[in-house]
Amino acid sequence: MQPEWERLLSDKVAHRLEPSLIGEMMMLVKELGAISFTAGEPSADLYPLEDLRESFDRAFGEASLFSYYPHNGGLRELRRWIADWMKSDGLAPRWLSEEEVLLTNGSQEGIHLLAEAFIAEGDAIIVESPTYPEALLTFRRQGARFLSVPVDRDGIIPEALEKVLRTSGPVKFIYTIVNFQNPSGYTTTDERKAKVLDLARRYGTVIVEDDPYRHLRYEGEPQGSYFVLGGDEGRVLYLGSFSKIIVPGIRVGWLALPPALAGKMTELRVSCEISLPAITQYAVWDFMKGRDLPSYLERLHGVYRSRRDALAEALRNECGPLGLEIDVPEGGFFLWGKIPWVRDMVDFARYAIREEKIGFIPGSIFFSDPKEGAGTVRFSFAKVDGGLAREGARRLARALASYRSR
Ligand SMILES: Cc1ncc(COP(=O)(O)O)c(C=O)c1O
Repeated sequence: MQPEWERLLSDKVAHRLEPSLIGEMMMLVKELGAISFTAGEPSADLYPLEDLRESFDRAFGEASLFSYYPHNGGLRELRRWIADWMKSDGLAPRWLSEEEVLLTNGSQEGIHLLAEAFIAEGDAIIVESPTYPEALLTFRRQGARFLSVPVDRDGIIPEALEKVLRTSGPVKFIYTIVNFQNPSGYTTTDERKAKVLDLARRYGTVIVEDDPYRHLRYEGEPQGSYFVLGGDEGRVLYLGSFSKIIVPGIRVGWLALPPALAGKMTELRVSCEISLPAITQYAVWDFMKGRDLPSYLERLHGVYRSRRDALAEALRNECGPLGLEIDVPEGGFFLWGKIPWVRDMVDFARYAIREEKIGFIPGSIFFSDPKEGAGTVRFSFAKVDGGLAREGARRLARALASYRSR
């Protein structure tokens, strides 16, 4: 007889996890051989594999990396490199050292550790509307109660935030994606950050700053961080990642923490997985320290900038007349769009991929309350060259026309 899994599984696992719609769309893309505007990850043709192989080779020359690694927070050399990098980039206050940097299995693990550390059943947290769905999944699993605050092109709207904070009671943290936000592509200006930080101070909450796309800016002025703006106060936790600028499968990210929290978070790490593979962290350190970073990034920027422009132009030309409006961001991977007459975008996305073999992500999944995102849609240009962009946009236009006349 089979065990009664439903009864044995915790409430968290039995009832709070659900199949991801992004996963479904990506599976359909593969199954149907469709053109895909779905994946929010770097393009495989830009993976620096030869250089990475050399970095891994050098790591294999360090036998100590294969021991049961003693630094639970992660390889010291990489933590120190990250602290120095963040400071030289104007992202961190002077006090940041390797002691306050915890390496993570991608920034997603950082999100998980923070959820575990802060959220108890029923705790309120503030999320942006829209926001990154895998963070919602992690926070929801932990029992979070979401209070959502809209963003505009300059980031979180402070007046809307204050309205929520005034009536919400205690809020554990504000989760915000500051650069080229997933999915909207919006970037929080420093002016907005000052206002939001001030509200966090006044209402006694803290800020979780998620920043995986920062180094993918194709034009415009870079903005600072909440982390540096918070100075000595220690009110901000920063999540960084190498996924978007090296390769996502390397799974190395980091948490930069207020000093008072670093020890506890490392204890939490030990209780979860003791430590992460030092060999991978060494390869990332070796890869990053040996790089002429500005020219390395400029090469990525050149490619992504032209892909962004090609997809934006194709979508405007082909689908603009059918009601699609899009926002073009200064960096990142995403075009955020609206097709006001499409009420059920999940239904249309399934229709478009089956009828015309074109995949994209319906916007509703980026809202803590899916009723909020009617008519919105996310397109990723990261893996789409000019030819694919034009063909994909033509297919989308055909799908829109036939869907409307059904
Ligand atoms: C906003 C945001 N945060 C975090 C992540 C997780 O990235 P990783 O775990 O690969 O570092 C992603 C990935 O798409 C993201 O878009």
